[in-house]
Amino acid sequence: MNCNVKAADGKLGVLVVGLGAVTTTFMTGVLMARKGLAKPVGAMTQYDKIRVGKGADKKYLKYDEIVPMAKLDDIVFGAWDVYPENAFESAMNCQVLNEKDILPVKDELEQIVPMKAAFDKNYAKRLDGNNIKTCKDRWDMTEQLREDIRNFKKEHGVNRVVVLWSASTEVYVPVNKEVHYSLATLEAAMKANDVENIAPSMCYAYAALAEGAPFIMGAPNTTVDIPAMWEMAEKNKLPIAGKDFKTGQTLVKSGFAPIIGTRCLGLAGWFSTNILGNRDGLVLDEPANFRTKEVSKLSTLESILVPEEQPDLYTNYYHKVRINYYPPRNDNKEGWDNIDIFGWMGYPMQIKIDFLCRDSILAAPLCLDLVLLSDLAARAGRWGTQRFLSFFLKSPMHDYTKGEVPVNHLFQQYAILKNAIREMGGYKPDQELD
Ligand SMILES: NC(=O)c1ccc[n+]([C@@H]2O[C@H](COP(=O)([O-])OP(=O)(O)OC[C@H]3O[C@@H](n4cnc5c(N)ncnc54)[C@H](O)[C@@H]3O)[C@@H](O)[C@H]2O)c1
Repeated sequence: MNCNVKAADGKLGVLVVGLGAVTTTFMTGVLMARKGLAKPVGAMTQYDKIRVGKGADKKYLKYDEIVPMAKLDDIVFGAWDVYPENAFESAMNCQVLNEKDILPVKDELEQIVPMKAAFDKNYAKRLDGNNIKTCKDRWDMTEQLREDIRNFKKEHGVNRVVVLWSASTEVYVPVNKEVHYSLATLEAAMKANDVENIAPSMCYAYAALAEGAPFIMGAPNTTVDIPAMWEMAEKNKLPIAGKDFKTGQTLVKSGFAPIIGTRCLGLAGWFSTNILGNRDGLVLDEPANFRTKEVSKLSTLESILVPEEQPDLYTNYYHKVRINYYPPRNDNKEGWDNIDIFGWMGYPMQIKIDFLCRDSILAAPLCLDLVLLSDLAARAGRWGTQRFLSFFLKSPMHDYTKGEVPVNHLFQQYAILKNAIREMGGYKPDQELD
Protein backbone atom coordinates (compact mmCIF):
# COMPACT_ATOMS: atom_id res chain seq x y z
CA MET A 1 0.00 0.00 0.00
CA ASN A 2 1.37 3.39 -1.01
CA CYS A 3 -0.66 5.77 1.12
CA ASN A 4 0.34 9.43 0.97
CA VAL A 5 -2.07 10.73 3.55
CA LYS A 6 -0.63 12.55 6.55
CA ALA A 7 -1.12 10.73 9.86
CA ALA A 8 -4.12 11.69 12.02
CA ASP A 9 -1.92 12.82 14.92
CA GLY A 10 -3.32 14.62 17.95
CA LYS A 11 -6.81 15.82 18.64
CA LEU A 12 -9.44 16.78 16.06
CA GLY A 13 -11.61 19.78 16.93
CA VAL A 14 -15.16 19.48 15.64
CA LEU A 15 -16.85 22.86 15.74
CA VAL A 16 -20.54 22.67 15.00
CA VAL A 17 -22.74 25.58 14.02
CA GLY A 18 -26.05 24.91 15.74
CA LEU A 19 -26.35 22.92 18.96
CA GLY A 20 -29.77 21.44 18.22
CA ALA A 21 -31.36 18.05 17.65
CA VAL A 22 -28.90 16.72 15.08
CA THR A 23 -25.66 17.85 16.67
CA THR A 24 -26.53 16.93 20.26
CA THR A 25 -27.57 13.46 19.02
CA PHE A 26 -24.27 13.25 17.14
CA MET A 27 -22.20 14.35 20.15
CA THR A 28 -24.04 12.15 22.64
CA GLY A 29 -23.62 9.12 20.38
CA VAL A 30 -19.89 9.72 19.93
CA LEU A 31 -19.35 10.20 23.67
CA MET A 32 -21.45 7.12 24.51
CA ALA A 33 -19.64 5.01 21.90
CA ARG A 34 -16.33 6.11 23.38
CA LYS A 35 -17.42 4.63 26.69
CA GLY A 36 -18.62 1.45 25.03
CA LEU A 37 -22.22 2.28 25.96
CA ALA A 38 -23.66 2.64 22.44
CA LYS A 39 -22.85 1.60 18.89
CA PRO A 40 -22.33 4.17 16.08
CA VAL A 41 -24.81 2.40 13.81
CA GLY A 42 -25.15 3.86 10.33
CA ALA A 43 -21.66 5.41 10.22
CA MET A 44 -19.81 4.19 7.15
CA THR A 45 -16.47 5.17 8.65
CA GLN A 46 -17.10 2.84 11.58
CA TYR A 47 -18.64 -0.15 9.77
CA ASP A 48 -18.28 -0.17 6.00
CA LYS A 49 -15.74 -2.43 4.34
CA ILE A 50 -14.32 -1.62 0.92
CA ARG A 51 -12.91 -4.20 -1.41
CA VAL A 52 -9.32 -3.65 -2.48
CA GLY A 53 -7.63 -5.80 -5.09
CA LYS A 54 -9.30 -8.29 -7.38
CA GLY A 55 -9.70 -12.02 -7.89
CA ALA A 56 -7.69 -14.16 -5.51
CA ASP A 57 -6.04 -11.02 -4.03
CA LYS A 58 -9.21 -9.24 -3.07
CA LYS A 59 -9.91 -8.34 0.51
CA TYR A 60 -12.48 -6.21 2.29
CA LEU A 61 -11.05 -3.59 4.61
CA LYS A 62 -12.52 -1.01 6.95
CA TYR A 63 -11.69 2.62 6.13
CA ASP A 64 -9.09 2.92 8.88
CA GLU A 65 -7.30 -0.13 7.49
CA ILE A 66 -6.93 1.65 4.14
CA VAL A 67 -6.24 5.26 5.20
CA PRO A 68 -5.28 6.91 8.50
CA MET A 69 -8.52 8.06 10.13
CA ALA A 70 -9.06 10.15 13.24
CA LYS A 71 -10.55 8.06 16.05
CA LEU A 72 -13.64 8.82 18.09
CA ASP A 73 -11.35 9.30 21.10
CA ASP A 74 -9.50 12.11 19.27
CA ILE A 75 -12.60 14.29 18.85
CA VAL A 76 -13.08 17.47 20.89
CA PHE A 77 -16.42 19.22 20.39
CA GLY A 78 -17.24 22.90 20.36
CA ALA A 79 -20.31 24.81 19.14
CA TRP A 80 -22.05 28.07 18.35
CA ASP A 81 -25.77 28.59 18.93
CA VAL A 82 -28.34 31.34 19.13
CA TYR A 83 -29.57 29.84 22.42
CA PRO A 84 -27.27 29.61 25.45
CA GLU A 85 -28.16 26.06 26.63
CA ASN A 86 -25.22 23.68 26.88
CA ALA A 87 -25.19 20.40 24.96
CA PHE A 88 -26.70 18.44 27.85
CA GLU A 89 -29.61 20.86 28.29
CA SER A 90 -30.16 21.01 24.56
CA ALA A 91 -30.06 17.21 24.16
CA MET A 92 -32.67 16.92 26.92
CA ASN A 93 -34.86 19.64 25.37
CA CYS A 94 -34.74 18.15 21.88
CA GLN A 95 -36.18 14.86 23.16
CA VAL A 96 -34.56 12.76 20.50
CA LEU A 97 -32.76 10.43 22.90
CA ASN A 98 -34.03 8.91 26.10
CA GLU A 99 -32.61 10.26 29.35
CA LYS A 100 -30.87 6.96 30.03
CA ASP A 101 -28.85 7.40 26.84
CA ILE A 102 -27.78 10.93 27.75
CA LEU A 103 -27.10 10.83 31.50
CA PRO A 104 -23.94 8.65 31.33
CA VAL A 105 -22.20 11.47 29.39
CA LYS A 106 -23.87 14.38 31.17
CA ASP A 107 -20.58 15.83 32.47
CA GLU A 108 -18.93 15.90 29.05
CA LEU A 109 -22.03 17.37 27.41
CA GLU A 110 -22.34 20.09 30.04
CA GLN A 111 -18.86 21.29 29.17
CA ILE A 112 -19.93 22.01 25.59
CA VAL A 113 -21.28 25.53 26.01
CA PRO A 114 -22.17 27.33 22.79
CA MET A 115 -20.22 30.40 21.75
CA LYS A 116 -22.29 33.38 20.70
CA ALA A 117 -23.83 32.88 17.28
CA ALA A 118 -23.25 34.94 14.17
CA PHE A 119 -26.92 35.49 13.46
CA ASP A 120 -29.32 37.67 11.54
CA LYS A 121 -33.00 37.22 12.32
CA ASN A 122 -33.93 37.98 8.72
CA TYR A 123 -32.41 34.62 7.83
CA ALA A 124 -34.46 32.58 10.35
CA LYS A 125 -37.44 34.58 11.54
CA ARG A 126 -38.84 31.90 13.79
CA LEU A 127 -35.78 31.88 16.07
CA ASP A 128 -35.61 34.14 19.06
CA GLY A 129 -32.42 33.42 20.99
CA ASN A 130 -30.21 35.86 22.87
CA ASN A 131 -26.77 34.22 22.58
CA ILE A 132 -25.82 36.40 19.64
CA LYS A 133 -22.76 38.41 18.68
CA THR A 134 -22.99 42.13 18.18
CA CYS A 135 -21.37 42.81 14.83
CA LYS A 136 -20.59 46.06 13.05
CA ASP A 137 -20.91 44.41 9.65
CA ARG A 138 -20.50 41.03 7.95
CA TRP A 139 -16.72 41.44 7.83
CA ASP A 140 -16.62 42.03 11.57
CA MET A 141 -18.87 38.94 11.98
CA THR A 142 -16.29 36.90 10.08
CA GLU A 143 -13.40 38.33 12.12
CA GLN A 144 -15.15 37.43 15.38
CA LEU A 145 -15.75 33.87 14.19
CA ARG A 146 -12.09 33.54 13.20
CA GLU A 147 -11.11 34.59 16.68
CA ASP A 148 -13.48 31.96 18.15
CA ILE A 149 -11.80 29.25 16.09
CA ARG A 150 -8.30 30.39 17.11
CA ASN A 151 -9.30 30.51 20.79
CA PHE A 152 -10.91 27.07 20.59
CA LYS A 153 -7.72 25.62 19.11
CA LYS A 154 -5.60 27.17 21.85
CA GLU A 155 -7.88 26.25 24.75
CA HIS A 156 -8.29 22.63 23.71
CA GLY A 157 -4.85 21.99 22.23
CA VAL A 158 -6.29 20.67 18.98
CA ASN A 159 -4.15 20.25 15.89
CA ARG A 160 -6.90 20.29 13.35
CA VAL A 161 -10.45 21.64 13.19
CA VAL A 162 -13.41 20.82 10.97
CA VAL A 163 -16.42 23.17 10.93
CA LEU A 164 -19.83 21.59 10.37
CA TRP A 165 -22.96 23.67 9.73
CA SER A 166 -25.94 21.88 11.20
CA ALA A 167 -27.81 25.02 12.19
CA SER A 168 -31.27 25.97 10.98
CA THR A 169 -31.87 26.34 7.27
CA GLU A 170 -31.50 29.97 6.24
CA VAL A 171 -33.79 31.74 3.80
CA TYR A 172 -32.93 31.11 0.18
CA VAL A 173 -30.06 33.22 -1.15
CA PRO A 174 -30.08 33.10 -4.96
CA VAL A 175 -26.63 33.10 -6.52
CA ASN A 176 -25.77 36.65 -7.54
CA LYS A 177 -23.02 36.81 -10.15
CA GLU A 178 -21.99 40.33 -9.10
CA VAL A 179 -21.25 39.18 -5.56
CA HIS A 180 -20.83 35.40 -5.40
CA TYR A 181 -18.69 34.72 -8.45
CA SER A 182 -15.31 35.83 -7.11
CA LEU A 183 -13.59 35.96 -3.78
CA ALA A 184 -12.75 39.64 -4.24
CA THR A 185 -16.40 40.63 -4.74
CA LEU A 186 -17.50 38.40 -1.86
CA GLU A 187 -15.00 40.05 0.49
CA ALA A 188 -16.03 43.50 -0.75
CA ALA A 189 -19.69 42.67 -0.05
CA MET A 190 -18.81 41.52 3.47
CA LYS A 191 -16.97 44.79 4.06
CA ALA A 192 -19.86 46.79 2.59
CA ASN A 193 -22.26 44.90 4.89
CA ASP A 194 -24.36 43.60 2.03
CA VAL A 195 -26.79 41.72 4.26
CA GLU A 196 -28.98 40.62 1.34
CA ASN A 197 -26.26 38.65 -0.37
CA ILE A 198 -24.08 37.61 2.56
CA ALA A 199 -25.83 35.10 4.79
CA PRO A 200 -24.35 34.53 8.28
CA SER A 201 -23.48 30.99 7.15
CA MET A 202 -21.08 32.51 4.59
CA CYS A 203 -19.25 34.23 7.43
CA TYR A 204 -18.83 30.87 9.21
CA ALA A 205 -17.57 29.24 6.03
CA TYR A 206 -15.17 32.05 5.24
CA ALA A 207 -13.87 32.06 8.82
CA ALA A 208 -13.34 28.27 8.79
CA LEU A 209 -11.42 28.34 5.52
CA ALA A 210 -9.38 31.36 6.61
CA GLU A 211 -8.38 29.47 9.77
CA GLY A 212 -7.37 26.29 7.94
CA ALA A 213 -10.50 24.24 8.64
CA PRO A 214 -12.55 22.27 6.11
CA PHE A 215 -16.20 23.38 6.02
CA ILE A 216 -19.25 21.16 5.60
CA MET A 217 -22.75 22.48 4.82
CA GLY A 218 -25.33 20.10 6.30
CA ALA A 219 -28.33 22.30 5.49
CA PRO A 220 -29.45 23.19 1.96
CA ASN A 221 -27.99 26.74 2.17
CA THR A 222 -26.07 27.90 -0.89
CA THR A 223 -23.22 29.08 1.39
CA VAL A 224 -20.24 27.25 -0.14
CA ASP A 225 -22.03 26.40 -3.36
CA ILE A 226 -20.72 29.55 -5.04
CA PRO A 227 -17.59 30.19 -7.13
CA ALA A 228 -16.24 32.69 -4.56
CA MET A 229 -16.05 29.96 -1.91
CA TRP A 230 -14.58 27.47 -4.38
CA GLU A 231 -11.88 30.07 -4.98
CA MET A 232 -11.34 30.50 -1.24
CA ALA A 233 -11.09 26.72 -0.76
CA GLU A 234 -8.59 26.48 -3.59
CA LYS A 235 -6.54 29.42 -2.32
CA ASN A 236 -6.25 27.87 1.15
CA LYS A 237 -6.04 24.28 -0.15
CA LEU A 238 -8.96 23.06 1.92
CA PRO A 239 -11.89 20.72 1.31
CA ILE A 240 -15.49 21.91 1.26
CA ALA A 241 -18.59 19.74 1.12
CA GLY A 242 -22.31 20.27 0.74
CA LYS A 243 -25.11 20.49 0.71
CA ASP A 244 -27.92 19.10 2.90
CA PHE A 245 -27.57 15.81 4.76
CA LYS A 246 -29.12 12.96 2.79
CA THR A 247 -31.01 11.31 5.62
CA GLY A 248 -34.52 9.93 5.09
CA GLN A 249 -36.73 10.65 2.15
CA THR A 250 -34.01 11.67 -0.28
CA LEU A 251 -31.92 8.65 0.67
CA VAL A 252 -34.89 6.48 -0.26
CA LYS A 253 -35.43 8.49 -3.44
CA SER A 254 -31.84 8.29 -4.63
CA GLY A 255 -31.79 4.57 -3.90
CA PHE A 256 -35.24 3.79 -5.30
CA ALA A 257 -35.31 5.94 -8.46
CA PRO A 258 -32.51 3.80 -9.97
CA ILE A 259 -34.88 0.77 -9.79
CA ILE A 260 -37.32 2.61 -12.06
CA GLY A 261 -34.56 3.90 -14.34
CA THR A 262 -32.61 0.65 -14.56
CA ARG A 263 -35.75 -1.34 -15.37
CA CYS A 264 -36.84 1.23 -18.03
CA LEU A 265 -40.21 1.87 -16.41
CA GLY A 266 -41.92 5.22 -16.93
CA LEU A 267 -42.59 7.89 -14.33
CA ALA A 268 -45.72 10.05 -14.34
CA GLY A 269 -45.31 11.67 -10.95
CA TRP A 270 -43.57 11.52 -7.60
CA PHE A 271 -45.23 13.21 -4.68
CA SER A 272 -43.20 13.42 -1.47
CA THR A 273 -44.58 14.81 1.71
CA ASN A 274 -43.23 14.99 5.24
CA ILE A 275 -44.63 15.73 8.65
CA LEU A 276 -42.25 16.68 11.40
CA GLY A 277 -42.53 18.63 14.61
CA ASN A 278 -39.05 19.59 15.74
CA ARG A 279 -37.45 23.06 15.58
CA ASP A 280 -36.16 22.25 12.09
CA GLY A 281 -39.80 21.74 11.06
CA LEU A 282 -40.78 25.00 12.72
CA VAL A 283 -38.12 26.96 10.79
CA LEU A 284 -39.06 25.19 7.53
CA ASP A 285 -42.69 26.18 8.06
CA GLU A 286 -41.60 29.67 6.97
CA PRO A 287 -41.97 29.76 3.15
CA ALA A 288 -38.64 31.52 2.50
CA ASN A 289 -36.77 28.89 4.53
CA PHE A 290 -38.72 26.04 2.95
CA ARG A 291 -37.76 27.36 -0.49
CA THR A 292 -34.09 26.56 0.26
CA LYS A 293 -35.05 23.00 1.23
CA GLU A 294 -37.38 22.58 -1.72
CA VAL A 295 -34.70 23.47 -4.25
CA SER A 296 -32.39 20.94 -2.65
CA LYS A 297 -34.95 18.13 -2.38
CA LEU A 298 -36.22 18.59 -5.93
CA SER A 299 -32.81 18.27 -7.53
CA THR A 300 -32.43 14.56 -6.77
CA LEU A 301 -34.65 12.97 -9.41
CA GLU A 302 -33.70 15.19 -12.33
CA SER A 303 -30.26 13.69 -12.81
CA ILE A 304 -31.38 10.08 -12.25
CA LEU A 305 -34.49 9.98 -14.44
CA VAL A 306 -33.50 12.31 -17.25
CA PRO A 307 -36.21 13.35 -19.74
CA GLU A 308 -33.71 14.23 -22.50
CA GLU A 309 -32.23 10.73 -22.36
CA GLN A 310 -35.53 8.84 -22.27
CA PRO A 311 -38.30 11.09 -23.60
CA ASP A 312 -40.84 8.22 -23.73
CA LEU A 313 -40.33 7.45 -20.05
CA TYR A 314 -39.52 10.69 -18.24
CA THR A 315 -40.94 13.69 -20.06
CA ASN A 316 -43.04 16.00 -17.88
CA TYR A 317 -43.22 13.89 -14.76
CA TYR A 318 -44.72 15.82 -11.89
CA HIS A 319 -42.35 16.05 -8.92
CA LYS A 320 -43.62 17.71 -5.77
CA VAL A 321 -42.08 17.94 -2.30
CA ARG A 322 -43.89 19.24 0.80
CA ILE A 323 -42.87 19.62 4.43
CA ASN A 324 -45.54 20.18 7.04
CA TYR A 325 -44.85 21.25 10.59
CA TYR A 326 -46.76 18.90 12.86
CA PRO A 327 -45.68 19.23 16.51
CA PRO A 328 -46.97 15.90 17.93
CA ARG A 329 -44.34 13.97 15.96
CA ASN A 330 -41.37 16.02 17.18
CA ASP A 331 -38.17 14.52 15.66
CA ASN A 332 -39.93 11.35 14.51
CA LYS A 333 -40.63 12.38 10.98
CA GLU A 334 -42.97 10.59 8.63
CA GLY A 335 -41.94 10.75 5.01
CA TRP A 336 -44.56 9.63 2.51
CA ASP A 337 -43.81 8.98 -1.12
CA ASN A 338 -46.45 8.29 -3.72
CA ILE A 339 -44.90 7.23 -7.00
CA ASP A 340 -46.98 6.97 -10.14
CA ILE A 341 -45.17 4.80 -12.62
CA PHE A 342 -46.23 3.23 -15.91
CA GLY A 343 -45.26 0.04 -17.68
CA TRP A 344 -45.86 -1.95 -20.86
CA MET A 345 -48.07 0.03 -23.27
CA GLY A 346 -48.28 2.84 -20.76
CA TYR A 347 -50.42 1.07 -18.15
CA PRO A 348 -50.27 2.92 -14.82
CA MET A 349 -49.16 1.51 -11.45
CA GLN A 350 -48.45 3.01 -8.04
CA ILE A 351 -45.80 2.54 -5.41
CA LYS A 352 -46.22 3.89 -1.85
CA ILE A 353 -43.37 4.25 0.59
CA ASP A 354 -44.03 5.35 4.14
CA PHE A 355 -40.80 5.89 6.06
CA LEU A 356 -41.41 6.30 9.77
CA CYS A 357 -37.96 7.58 10.55
CA ARG A 358 -36.13 9.58 13.15
CA ASP A 359 -34.49 12.60 11.63
CA SER A 360 -31.60 13.09 13.98
CA ILE A 361 -30.92 9.35 14.37
CA LEU A 362 -30.34 9.26 10.61
CA ALA A 363 -28.38 12.53 10.50
CA ALA A 364 -25.95 11.85 13.38
CA PRO A 365 -23.89 9.18 11.59
CA LEU A 366 -23.70 11.44 8.53
CA CYS A 367 -22.20 14.17 10.72
CA LEU A 368 -19.54 11.77 11.94
CA ASP A 369 -18.73 10.46 8.46
CA LEU A 370 -18.62 13.92 6.88
CA VAL A 371 -16.39 15.28 9.61
CA LEU A 372 -13.95 12.36 9.61
CA LEU A 373 -13.80 12.14 5.83
CA SER A 374 -13.31 15.90 5.39
CA ASP A 375 -10.44 15.73 7.86
CA LEU A 376 -9.05 12.78 5.88
CA ALA A 377 -9.38 14.73 2.62
CA ALA A 378 -7.49 17.68 4.11
CA ARG A 379 -4.66 15.42 5.26
CA ALA A 380 -4.62 13.82 1.81
CA GLY A 381 -4.02 17.27 0.29
CA ARG A 382 -7.41 17.43 -1.45
CA TRP A 383 -9.13 20.78 -1.78
CA GLY A 384 -12.29 22.33 -3.19
CA THR A 385 -15.61 20.53 -3.57
CA GLN A 386 -15.28 16.93 -2.41
CA ARG A 387 -17.43 15.02 -4.88
CA PHE A 388 -16.73 11.72 -3.13
CA LEU A 389 -18.87 12.99 -0.24
CA SER A 390 -21.94 13.36 -2.51
CA PHE A 391 -23.08 9.98 -1.15
CA PHE A 392 -23.97 11.73 2.11
CA LEU A 393 -25.64 14.78 0.58
CA LYS A 394 -29.03 15.56 -0.87
CA SER A 395 -27.92 18.20 -3.30
CA PRO A 396 -24.26 17.58 -4.11
CA MET A 397 -22.22 20.60 -5.09
CA HIS A 398 -20.98 20.70 -8.68
CA ASP A 399 -19.55 23.28 -11.03
CA TYR A 400 -22.77 24.65 -12.52
CA THR A 401 -20.84 27.48 -14.18
CA LYS A 402 -19.41 24.85 -16.55
CA GLY A 403 -22.65 22.88 -16.88
CA GLU A 404 -21.41 19.97 -14.75
CA VAL A 405 -24.22 17.57 -13.82
CA PRO A 406 -24.20 16.32 -10.22
CA VAL A 407 -24.33 12.60 -9.48
CA ASN A 408 -27.45 11.81 -7.43
CA HIS A 409 -27.72 8.07 -8.04
CA LEU A 410 -26.93 6.48 -4.68
CA PHE A 411 -24.95 3.56 -6.04
CA GLN A 412 -22.89 5.69 -8.42
CA GLN A 413 -22.14 7.94 -5.46
CA TYR A 414 -21.07 4.90 -3.46
CA ALA A 415 -18.70 3.83 -6.26
CA ILE A 416 -17.14 7.33 -6.23
CA LEU A 417 -16.77 7.20 -2.44
CA LYS A 418 -15.07 3.81 -2.52
CA ASN A 419 -12.71 4.80 -5.29
CA ALA A 420 -11.66 7.98 -3.48
CA ILE A 421 -10.80 5.97 -0.36
CA ARG A 422 -8.97 3.39 -2.47
CA GLU A 423 -6.95 6.09 -4.23
CA MET A 424 -6.08 7.91 -1.00
CA GLY A 425 -4.94 4.54 0.38
CA GLY A 426 -2.68 3.95 -2.60
CA TYR A 427 -4.89 1.30 -4.24
CA LYS A 428 -6.19 1.37 -7.80
CA PRO A 429 -9.73 2.65 -8.37
CA ASP A 430 -12.02 0.22 -10.20
CA GLN A 431 -15.56 -0.17 -11.46
CA GLU A 432 -16.32 -3.69 -10.26
CA LEU A 433 -19.52 -4.29 -8.36
CA ASP A 434 -19.30 -5.95 -4.97
N1 LIG B 1 -32.21 15.76 10.63
C1 LIG B 1 -32.24 15.58 9.35
O1 LIG B 1 -32.66 14.55 8.86
C2 LIG B 1 -31.70 16.64 8.44
C3 LIG B 1 -31.49 16.32 7.10
C4 LIG B 1 -30.95 17.29 6.26
C5 LIG B 1 -30.63 18.53 6.75
N2 LIG B 1 -30.88 18.83 8.05
C6 LIG B 1 -30.57 20.17 8.47
O2 LIG B 1 -29.76 20.16 9.60
C7 LIG B 1 -29.99 21.36 10.31
C8 LIG B 1 -30.15 21.06 11.80
O3 LIG B 1 -31.33 20.32 12.05
P1 LIG B 1 -31.85 20.12 13.54
O4 LIG B 1 -32.99 19.18 13.48
O5 LIG B 1 -30.70 19.85 14.45
O6 LIG B 1 -32.41 21.59 13.85
P2 LIG B 1 -32.53 22.33 15.27
O7 LIG B 1 -33.49 23.43 15.04
O8 LIG B 1 -32.81 21.35 16.35
O9 LIG B 1 -31.06 22.89 15.52
C9 LIG B 1 -30.54 23.95 14.80
C10 LIG B 1 -29.88 24.90 15.77
O10 LIG B 1 -29.21 25.90 15.01
C11 LIG B 1 -29.26 27.10 15.75
N3 LIG B 1 -28.94 28.20 14.84
C12 LIG B 1 -29.71 28.76 13.89
N4 LIG B 1 -29.04 29.73 13.23
C13 LIG B 1 -27.80 29.78 13.78
C14 LIG B 1 -26.65 30.55 13.53
N5 LIG B 1 -26.64 31.48 12.58
N6 LIG B 1 -25.55 30.32 14.29
C15 LIG B 1 -25.55 29.36 15.24
N7 LIG B 1 -26.62 28.60 15.53
C16 LIG B 1 -27.72 28.80 14.80
C17 LIG B 1 -30.67 27.11 16.32
O11 LIG B 1 -30.76 27.95 17.41
C18 LIG B 1 -30.85 25.63 16.69
O12 LIG B 1 -30.51 25.36 18.02
C19 LIG B 1 -31.21 22.03 9.68
O13 LIG B 1 -30.81 23.05 8.80
C20 LIG B 1 -31.81 20.91 8.90
O14 LIG B 1 -32.57 21.37 7.78
C21 LIG B 1 -31.38 17.91 8.91
